[in-house]
Amino acid sequence: MPGDHSTSDPDGARARQATQHWDPDRYTKNAGFVAELGAPLLDLLQPAKGERVLDLGCGEGALTAKIAAAGAAVVGIDSSPEQVAAARARGLDARVMNAEALTFEAEFDAVLSNAALHWMRNPDAVLHGVAAALKPGGRLVAEMGGQGNVETIVNALFAALEARGIDPRGAFPWYFPAPQAYQSKLEAAGFAVESIALIPRPTPLPGEIGGWLETFAESFLKQVPAGERPVLIAEVAERLRPTLCDSQGRWSADYVRLRFVARLAG
Ligand code: BEZ
Repeated sequence: MPGDHSTSDPDGARARQATQHWDPDRYTKNAGFVAELGAPLLDLLQPAKGERVLDLGCGEGALTAKIAAAGAAVVGIDSSPEQVAAARARGLDARVMNAEALTFEAEFDAVLSNAALHWMRNPDAVLHGVAAALKPGGRLVAEMGGQGNVETIVNALFAALEARGIDPRGAFPWYFPAPQAYQSKLEAAGFAVESIALIPRPTPLPGEIGGWLETFAESFLKQVPAGERPVLIAEVAERLRPTLCDSQGRWSADYVRLRFVARLAG
């Protein structure tokens, strides 16, 4: 591992966050599993009829729709206009909003977030906004990338870029905290943590690793001119093949999730 990237370069990454482009069709094709694997969060959330729930980083709304189907009134927010448009096309109340600058005030019974918090490089701002958005006693149920998430993939991207004389450190776009570090942030924002754990979860991919890289690792790929990206992707894939591709040609990604339930004082 060329260093711990889990919290590196927060300011640079924040500046680049806007350059991550979400294409709803590509996301559904290469990352449809994200919402499916978020199903355990619904069991933890137990959304009830009449409750008001905020889905933080709702993407194209697959999980948001399940919360709505449980009878809760759900609002989804996401920074991507394309993903919000896709969620609205499902008939959901979805809004373009920066999760680091939430404006809700004591109006939600619960906040759910799946596979989004690791894109938010100012966790303190996010958690204080979430605390302000919740009613007293409200709960936050979430899953994000945790310490060590996609470490093998990150190492291969680093090695391929370094071989081209490019310093990849500034391209790292994520925040993958350890449980204790995130628990401290939750407590500082006024939450009592009911559970928090790292869950290693090798995740089968629906296709080639290249589709995953194009969907999630844009900030690394953009370090080379567009014409060189297919070669870079092929090279990263070859570096990863021995570890992440089985003998049947099935790819997986070395996910490590951080899952937690936290509650505001009543
Ligand atoms: C995700 O947003 O689902 C994700 C991002 C980076 C690594 C793994 C997953």
